[in-house]
Amino acid sequence: MKFGVFLPNGSNGYLISKAIPPYPPTWELNKTVTIEAERQGLDFVLSMMKFRGFGGDTGYWDACLESFSLMSALASVTTRIGLIPTVTILALHPAYVARMMATLDDISGGRAALNIVTGWNKPEYEQMGLWRGEAYYTQRYEYALDYVHILRALWTEGRVTHHSRFFDLEDCRCLPMPAHEIPLVSAGQSSAGRQFVAHIGGYSFAMTAPERLHALAADLRQQASARRTQVGTYALFHLVAEETDEIAWHRARAIAAAGDIEAIQNVVRSASMDSVKDGTTEQLRDAATTDAGLLAGDIETAHMAFMGCPALVGSYETVARKIDALATDPNIEGLLFSWPEWVSGIRHFGERIIPLLACRQGWEPATMGGLRGSGRPSHSG
Ligand SMILES: Cc1cc2nc3c(=O)[nH]c(=O)nc-3n(C[C@H](O)[C@H](O)[C@H](O)COP(=O)(O)O)c2cc1C
Repeated sequence: MKFGVFLPNGSNGYLISKAIPPYPPTWELNKTVTIEAERQGLDFVLSMMKFRGFGGDTGYWDACLESFSLMSALASVTTRIGLIPTVTILALHPAYVARMMATLDDISGGRAALNIVTGWNKPEYEQMGLWRGEAYYTQRYEYALDYVHILRALWTEGRVTHHSRFFDLEDCRCLPMPAHEIPLVSAGQSSAGRQFVAHIGGYSFAMTAPERLHALAADLRQQASARRTQVGTYALFHLVAEETDEIAWHRARAIAAAGDIEAIQNVVRSASMDSVKDGTTEQLRDAATTDAGLLAGDIETAHMAFMGCPALVGSYETVARKIDALATDPNIEGLLFSWPEWVSGIRHFGERIIPLLACRQGWEPATMGGLRGSGRPSHSG
């Protein structure tokens, strides 16, 4: 079981709550978090990209450090941990991204993977004149397939000719080629998003509660085996771990009760523009439209103060048990976490939770971190 950090490179991390004093996404914070994660033996860090935040009293995600430049700087202050920047494919040409990834591969000595984001929040791209029209909602994973085709051709051949309804490249050159294979990640939650991962072979990052997660991971594996590709599912959770269950639940409930309603409404409004309804939009809608109101979701399933993402709540022992329960599923290769307090949260995770985990017994952090390899202890293959 591999573990990663969903870096706080957007303001206020992943909690839309006034219980956390607003904080900016600085280099200093992201560097400290990443160095602590590497020290605690975690496997990778992933930074996101958001071009337009959601405001409210907390200014949720109003500021966001650029993902590639951040990862490049992190590569030079770390030695082992895997680094996953996010490409928003509407904003950057694939030949440009192929070159940035070859550069990051070189700087990091092969520790880089790439998170592909299609763009599902129209206001982000419309403000830059980059939105491709309403049809893009349903075409976005076809566009992404074309995009990945170009990236991989440039990474393996150093040149590509590709004419399609989306791209027009004639003998396009891109050197150097990366010295290592670049694993691809997608966090698409819709059926089209998961089909995309099965098609290209890569890692699917799921944002759903454990009950649904197992079915999604099995379905992805099945789709991949039909296509003869290799895939792995990773699941995203908030981690609220304290000395006792009582303290942890007190903390989680305080975060939930102080949700920033205006920012949450803006998140939901933006997501509901999406004409594809079976992915994150559905998860957010379910979290946000209970009769009791925007803050009534279940904290361990989907609560809007937690960005609609499930949380693992409890004492260090309880959380360790919950992680071990997830790890019994062979289709789940790893977990991606965010914390209310980043540096102490990661330190406690490494010092108090990891030693209790059956799924990490015998685990030796890879000398070259990241997503490659089985995610199982080295001695058991
Ligand atoms: C771990 C993770 C990272 C994500 N990173 C970004 C990001 O950086 N930018 C973004 O716009 N969306 C991001 N998303 C959203 C997804 O990429 C995806 O577009 C969204 O969940 C909608 O899924 P769908 O496109 O399959 O409908 C992320 C989601 C998860 C779970």
